[in-house]
Amino acid sequence: MRDLIDKLTERHTLSRDEFKTLLACDSPYLYERAREARRQVYGSRIFMRGLIEITSYCKNNCYYCGLRRDNTNAERYRLTGEQILACCKAGYDLDFRTFVLQGGEDDYFTDDVLAGIVREIRTAYPDCAISLSMGERSYESCRRLFDAGADRYLLRHETADDAHYSALHPPEMSLVNRKKCLWDLKKIGYQVGCGFMVGSPGQTLDHIVEDLLFIEELKPAMVGVGPFIPHSSTPFACEKPGSLRLTLNILAILRLMSPNLLIPATTALGTIDGAGRELGVQAGANVVMPNLSPAEARKKYLLYDNKICTDESSAECRFCIQNRLKSIGYEIAVSRGDYISHEFA
Ligand code: 5AD
Ligand code: SF4
Ligand code: FES
Repeated sequence: MRDLIDKLTERHTLSRDEFKTLLACDSPYLYERAREARRQVYGSRIFMRGLIEITSYCKNNCYYCGLRRDNTNAERYRLTGEQILACCKAGYDLDFRTFVLQGGEDDYFTDDVLAGIVREIRTAYPDCAISLSMGERSYESCRRLFDAGADRYLLRHETADDAHYSALHPPEMSLVNRKKCLWDLKKIGYQVGCGFMVGSPGQTLDHIVEDLLFIEELKPAMVGVGPFIPHSSTPFACEKPGSLRLTLNILAILRLMSPNLLIPATTALGTIDGAGRELGVQAGANVVMPNLSPAEARKKYLLYDNKICTDESSAECRFCIQNRLKSIGYEIAVSRGDYISHEFA
């Protein structure tokens, strides 16, 4: 196993079979090499992003997600521009230098509305990065938002396998369109993030290998990977959650594939295991994304059951994360935390 891990460390890629072997392995050496690779680029500094969940309305119907339109139990809300700016203000004072506006696909947020908000944040916080995570939008829409001042766009591809994509989404959604959006975002000039869930229903190790190969091709700046967690009011209510070990292996493999990659230790990872985010950092992640949403919003933005941080304030999460990182020997960087461009492989 050490040979294979050393090979990935040196060459940044492997054959399909070799990737499969590493995905299934149980070797602390994988995490050691991943930490070392990250340390060479980023030292012991972890980047922080403030997540602002701006709308729980969604016109889509992804089978796995608690915000899907057919979930009539979900409480819906959307934040006003004023509320979003207030979150940024609170966030800035708590050392955040990246704001991530995330939401379901909500037609209320037209290009004019969203570009207006982005422009206001851009003007008020010229030293901060603005990330959007608002689902699939048209090329023109993404270009307008970029011109308004957005720097980054997160759009998980969810799975790189067509049949698996169809098992997770209703027929009106397509992997072809999802991938086209990601390529469009890159063309426009965004730092792009893709990603997927671990252990989503029907997922196999071969699917995950396809995800890794797609990531190799797209060369994103960020990759978000977290365990699938069932939500009780979705078609996948009775499915089992994704595995901690497999998620950590994927984070470490991604780090070795691309030492500069921005890799979050996700909230979902912190939900399936009390120490999940720390373990994620110890497997090679270098980004944390504490919640900056207002108290009323947090309890309503439920993609999956038992989500953490719904009762805490922005300040509580900010310092909770700092303490957690400190306990394992890392510190938070007060910085935008931009992607350092390099040859991917
Ligand atoms: N469990 C884990 N992650 C989920 N997401 C949506 N629903 C779930 C779930 N049940 C993830 C998707 C989406 C991101 C915003 O959250 O990957 O892209
Ligand atoms: Fe909507 Fe995103 Fe949830 Fe799909 S994953 S239902 S697009 S919020
Ligand atoms: Fe929210 Fe710990 S990060 S409570």
